[in-house]
Amino acid sequence: MSNEVGGSSREPQTFNEELKKRILDLKERRRAVILAHNYQNPEVQDIADFVGDSLGLAQRAAETDAEVVVFCGVHFMAETAYILNPEKVVLLPDLEAGCPLADMADAASVLEFRLRHPRAAVVAYVNTTAEVKAVSDFCCTSSNAVKVVRAVEAEEIIFLPDRNLARYVASQVREKRIIPWAGYCPIHQEITAQQVREVMEAHPQAEVIAHPECTEEVIALAHHVKSTSGMVEAARNSRAREFVVATEEGMLYPLCRALPEKRFYSPSGEHICADMKKITLPKILRALETMEPRVVVPQEVRERAFRAVKRMLQLV
Ligand code: 13P
Repeated sequence: MSNEVGGSSREPQTFNEELKKRILDLKERRRAVILAHNYQNPEVQDIADFVGDSLGLAQRAAETDAEVVVFCGVHFMAETAYILNPEKVVLLPDLEAGCPLADMADAASVLEFRLRHPRAAVVAYVNTTAEVKAVSDFCCTSSNAVKVVRAVEAEEIIFLPDRNLARYVASQVREKRIIPWAGYCPIHQEITAQQVREVMEAHPQAEVIAHPECTEEVIALAHHVKSTSGMVEAARNSRAREFVVATEEGMLYPLCRALPEKRFYSPSGEHICADMKKITLPKILRALETMEPRVVVPQEVRERAFRAVKRMLQLV
């Protein structure tokens, strides 16, 4: 019914240890930093210099003095790292690691939508392509969406591409009119209130922590609505010892690692982002050896996308 994770690698230990050593040696020689999202495979998180949510990763990418960024996440995250660091090499160990949510908005449709709502400002969730960020006014992540929308002067806001996050933001910022895009994250969309309730019944003391990409019904059950890194802080600060975690299952690994004395459960069913799991140790090693595949954004797009990302970073 629930998926409790202690989080150990599924690959043979010695093979992984050898790979890790080679990656860490080569990382030093390349003057590289390894950034990993909270949903990454445990063995990838273990070799990362920093593991975090989209905002934390963007902040680290903005601050780093490394010459090479190895981005263990999905394509839009590596693009954001490049937007902030065009002079650096940004490696994404598997270019096929995409985001179906980000693919639900394209720049031409956003421009057309803007024409229909001329008074509205556009806030683009970080889960968008660089082209979409380039035609948006502000970027935001799940951890600062409410803050960014509040700070925008316009009273009407086109919020894209996630309709669930848009609805959650609208519930928190009632003074503004939020015009949602119709996109959604397939992983969060498939988590049902019934699946969450089943785990709550099995663990009646547990608090529910949900990602704001979850549906309205799941959010209604949540004690905490948080970004992935916000989940760790919420669990740390709570007196509860058990939590139902409504997000991608990889999140149980950083939670268990940070708070081994607490228990974490996933809603029933399989809630796994196959794109996030495409990044593996052999691919990271290969990327450091060949310095490919690189993520690059054309200069004109980058400069316009940078404005939206920078406005967000100035706000947080
Ligand atoms: P976080 O910024 O909360 O880590 O979310 C990233 C994401 O893509 C969730 O699906």
